Amino acid sequence: MTAIAAPIGMLAELTHRCPLHCPYCSNPIELDKRSAELETGTWLRVLSEAARLGVVQVHLSGGEPTARKDLEAIVRHCAGLGIYSNLITSGIGLDERRLTTLVEAGLDHVQLSFQATTPEMNDLIGGLGGSLSYKLKIAAAVTRLGIPLTVNAVIHRRNIAQIEDFVRLAIRLSARRVEIAHAQYYGWALKNRANLMPTREETVAAVATVTRLREELKNVIVIDAVIPDYYARYPKACMGGWARQSLNVTPSGKVLPCHAAETIPDLEFWTVRDKSLADIWCDSPAFNAFRGTGWMREPCRSCERREIDWGGCRCQALAVAGSALEADPVCQKSPIHDRMAAIAAAEAAQPLRGYQYRGSAKRL
Ligand code: SF4
Ligand code: FES
Repeated sequence: MTAIAAPIGMLAELTHRCPLHCPYCSNPIELDKRSAELETGTWLRVLSEAARLGVVQVHLSGGEPTARKDLEAIVRHCAGLGIYSNLITSGIGLDERRLTTLVEAGLDHVQLSFQATTPEMNDLIGGLGGSLSYKLKIAAAVTRLGIPLTVNAVIHRRNIAQIEDFVRLAIRLSARRVEIAHAQYYGWALKNRANLMPTREETVAAVATVTRLREELKNVIVIDAVIPDYYARYPKACMGGWARQSLNVTPSGKVLPCHAAETIPDLEFWTVRDKSLADIWCDSPAFNAFRGTGWMREPCRSCERREIDWGGCRCQALAVAGSALEADPVCQKSPIHDRMAAIAAAEAAQPLRGYQYRGSAKRL
């Protein structure tokens, strides 16, 4: 325990149930059923254990976390423990009354996702009609209640030209932050990768737009941006490094170092039904599999950036290089780095087709 630093943040995936059908969903292909979800008492115990472990911020996520009727109890418990609570929501299923009860329970922050800035595109991407006007009402209610708002936009080929519109929309909604997050290709998103992948030219233009807006609006709004991996030269420190800063608890109680960790075969995940969070953080095989640098092969092992990006993303290494022990192929030192750009270019060159939505062969 003494040699392992405490986690700072925890993603509490309260449910996989969700009214939207976003094609870039990073949740697993097989979702946890409602009957398998942790009951309220277990979540409260897990939050208490998280606070004792050192967690100061909990992201209440899903699926759509407001689908849980006990969300107020969970938020209230976070507040009692002194944990900062962030609700990550699509806004669908929420109304001002429920928001008010959540704020009264101690909710600290709301992160509201938008699929697009125009109604037609918002409906098409989320697979649900009428969702944009709904989100706008929720955003207004959040700021009316005095809670800090972050607007989140997952960016991909269909909406990449709307980046400036997203930022201007966030300002109109009095958001303090806007998150421009390029789609990551794990879980369900991998199935739709060809329909999501922007071209290199679109990506370069997007990065330039963010740079320009950050300068122009530096005293107006904070713009966070996650650049698209496939055209990068160095990988991101995914999750701030495996098992270094944060942990995810799935709806059924499995504890994961990242939301896509279950795609890595042969990892053993422990669950909060059987173990304490502290035992899992320190001793579970999955957390120790890629913690630190001892597991690394070349080129990471001798690389000067190995404690900067921690070898990048293990799940992406598995998905593209075939082994989670390899360097993230985003890295220009990876022997298959060129494969990333080639995949991206080939997929971005394909015509846009209908999305593959969860749960049906529905195509809008
Ligand atoms: Fe990061 Fe490994 Fe690439 Fe070095 S070789 S930059 S540690 S991914
Ligand atoms: Fe699993 Fe990056 S998503 S390590």
